[in-house]
Amino acid sequence: MNSIGCNAVDIDIMIIAGLRVYSRIRSVLAGATLCLALAGLEPYAAAQAVAPASTQNANRVEHPSNVQLADPKIETRVEHLLRQMTLEEKIGQLVQYNDTGNASALHVSGAPPAADRPGAMDVLNPVSANHVNAMQLAATGRLGSMLNTVGTERTNTFQHLAIDQSRLHIPLLFGADVIHGFRTIYPVPLGLAASFDPELVVAVSHMAAEEASTAGIRWFYSPMVDISRDPRWGRSVEGAGEDPYLGAAIARAYIRGYQGDDLSKPGSVAASVKHFAAYGAAESGREYNSTDMSEITLRQVYLPPYRAAVDAGAATVMSAFNSLNGVPASANSFLLNKILRGEWGFNGFVVSDYTAVMELIHHGIALDPATATRKAITSGVDVDMMSHFYDTQLPGLIRSGEVPMDVVDEAVRRVLRVKFATGLFEHPYAEGVEVTAAVAGHRPLVRKAAEESFVLLKNDKLVGGTPLLPLSPASKRVALIGPLADDAREMVGGWSGAGKDSDSITLRQALAERVQQLGGTLLYAKGTKIDDDSQTGFPEAIKAAQEADVVLLALGESGRMSGEGGSRANLNLPGNQQQLMEEVVATGKPVVLLIFSGRPLVLDWAAKHIPAIMEAWFPGTEAGHALANVLYGDVSPSGKLPMSFPRTVGQEPLYYNQFPTGRPPAGIDLSQPPSGETRFVSRYIDVPNSALFPFGYGLSYSSFSYQDVKVSKSSIPLLQALANRSTPLLEATATVTNTGEHTATEVVQCYVRNLGASIEQPVRSLNGFERVSLAPGESRQVIFHLGFNELSFFNLESSPTIEATHYTVWIGGSSLANQEASFVVVSPTPGGDSR
Ligand code: BGC
Repeated sequence: MNSIGCNAVDIDIMIIAGLRVYSRIRSVLAGATLCLALAGLEPYAAAQAVAPASTQNANRVEHPSNVQLADPKIETRVEHLLRQMTLEEKIGQLVQYNDTGNASALHVSGAPPAADRPGAMDVLNPVSANHVNAMQLAATGRLGSMLNTVGTERTNTFQHLAIDQSRLHIPLLFGADVIHGFRTIYPVPLGLAASFDPELVVAVSHMAAEEASTAGIRWFYSPMVDISRDPRWGRSVEGAGEDPYLGAAIARAYIRGYQGDDLSKPGSVAASVKHFAAYGAAESGREYNSTDMSEITLRQVYLPPYRAAVDAGAATVMSAFNSLNGVPASANSFLLNKILRGEWGFNGFVVSDYTAVMELIHHGIALDPATATRKAITSGVDVDMMSHFYDTQLPGLIRSGEVPMDVVDEAVRRVLRVKFATGLFEHPYAEGVEVTAAVAGHRPLVRKAAEESFVLLKNDKLVGGTPLLPLSPASKRVALIGPLADDAREMVGGWSGAGKDSDSITLRQALAERVQQLGGTLLYAKGTKIDDDSQTGFPEAIKAAQEADVVLLALGESGRMSGEGGSRANLNLPGNQQQLMEEVVATGKPVVLLIFSGRPLVLDWAAKHIPAIMEAWFPGTEAGHALANVLYGDVSPSGKLPMSFPRTVGQEPLYYNQFPTGRPPAGIDLSQPPSGETRFVSRYIDVPNSALFPFGYGLSYSSFSYQDVKVSKSSIPLLQALANRSTPLLEATATVTNTGEHTATEVVQCYVRNLGASIEQPVRSLNGFERVSLAPGESRQVIFHLGFNELSFFNLESSPTIEATHYTVWIGGSSLANQEASFVVVSPTPGGDSR
């Protein structure tokens, strides 16, 4: 045991995305162990172990989630290999480390650590906190997979050690955080979700898989499908926002894009759905914080996207850092054995999040590494990412009988199935020409993705009746102001794979071309930094604004202000950007505000004082071109908000699909302070309840009207609704018309409310959406099929059900849609559950 102080932390400098350096503060494993030793505490009794994971063998379930992994041919190979493996080799398959450099590697030539090469995404830990040597482990069959070790040269170096030198020649699986592109970067996931376009998600994620597999990567730690209702949580940027229906649709799309229909096809990668489960419900939006919720909320709100990804065949799942109702997700048999494997038939493997097994000690449910290991593996965590616990603890636990051998065997089988299914045994090395920079042929696709991600929040008419956007070519002098106007690095946001800053097109670059083509002049001034209090750049910015016909203000966050470890207690513009904005607006010039952010920000001042506002998220490699195309009207914005934008941070968590209250503030003007009876309703006394910009909201350069919102049946027999779980029960339809002057795309949304059930249901829930492109004057009927999935809810026994109740359906362009139709589900016996 290493003896390091109880509070010792170490800082690994990790080099990711080429030039991006960030430090990760991580508790030293040995420190935690020593704390326990000093406290004289005993490990938990083995008797407290939960049912062994092996009893949940997913391949024995009737409907395994991934058919390829259940292939009997693979099973034969797995069993054949397993029989030859020593305990040490078996445990090796359950161990994952990153690249620890070349120090004292066995029989290895002195290839430079990959992170020395510009542009690689490699993580370099020359001296590992764990004091392991990944090369030695690979060469001796004691390493199963590696994380964030990227590039043909580096992955092949490790793979050769595993294949050529280890006794059984089992290939390594290389996983990486490819979150929104590998080299050619598309919008951050929250922005991509704003497209409400699952087919687009399939296309871009497949593109990322193709690029990364040329660099040896066959496994992505993506998609992150955590529902996030609180934008203070920095990782909101990595998911699809607050809604389970949208989240599930997007989750499915990622799996299709990454894995295709065959994991072994070139260009396919195995997905890791993360972070299972409910990581996004971190209390107070504070990163890694605990989560606590009813089982109904868990099943109805948080689990659907994971379920959708598993049903779509996701090969692996990552267990989360957080605790759920007191049990850490990485030792949570209820989540992993009961729900994931038992109920959903998941037959891939579960990898822990980074050091999550070790963190069970910090959670206080294990007093030493052995207990943490026992709890994690018996709860269903197959692979230990970076904790250095499985390799050190499992041999003793097996010897003592605290962990049954068949638990280890089953975990190894799960890993080997994925390795066989991905074709790693046949093609262990990086294939094809390594993609080392953004791919020219992929730029149109990521540009389209960026264009679809932008959400137009406001676009007032100016004097003369024309909206400020799209920009008029007659505005010859264009001022471009702000810290996000010309920052290539920030265009891609956090977790930007191996993207190179130099590949990104900034708004300034794109506008310089565009404005010149139009015979105009671009006046650029940075104004201030993203997070600074110096005003030295203000005068230049004000001057540019004063000289311009129109001003574009590019403000927002840096990529590092969201993502992992990026929780914020404030949702305002960082630094002195608010002040810069106010001074620019004071010039009286027409201003377009472009917001770059990894989360909803508080834009209440801007909404009152600025005529045009567009949320740009972090658009990716083609940021500038995509923005210029939308700003000048080549493309009409079509994005809709995947998360509600609050008026003030105090409203958080704020989401549209909330439960009703017994004192709804119906008919009360909440912008006015309460008086008399208007006080004793569910409200704030100082701010309206509503979002500033709600879920599903987004404008276009055109306008749309909705007519004929109807349902195909006014009544459905309960028995039919319960019996028929796979075909639609009725149709909800509406006719949408483009009433404006631009060809444009509208995201038509269908919301449902269930009234009268035995358990209260949200005030409305999204249950269908469709992107519809219409020429001016064109109309289209949109049909939503509503069946058991859309109409059911979870009862107190945790089963999805339908009762004899009343349903309202709204169809429109946001969660405020107000044209409705209704129907009832009728019981054969009089009286529904609510009566
Ligand atoms: C993050 C995961 C990520 C893993 C590997 C963890 O800290 O929570 O999302 O996949 O690191 O880099």
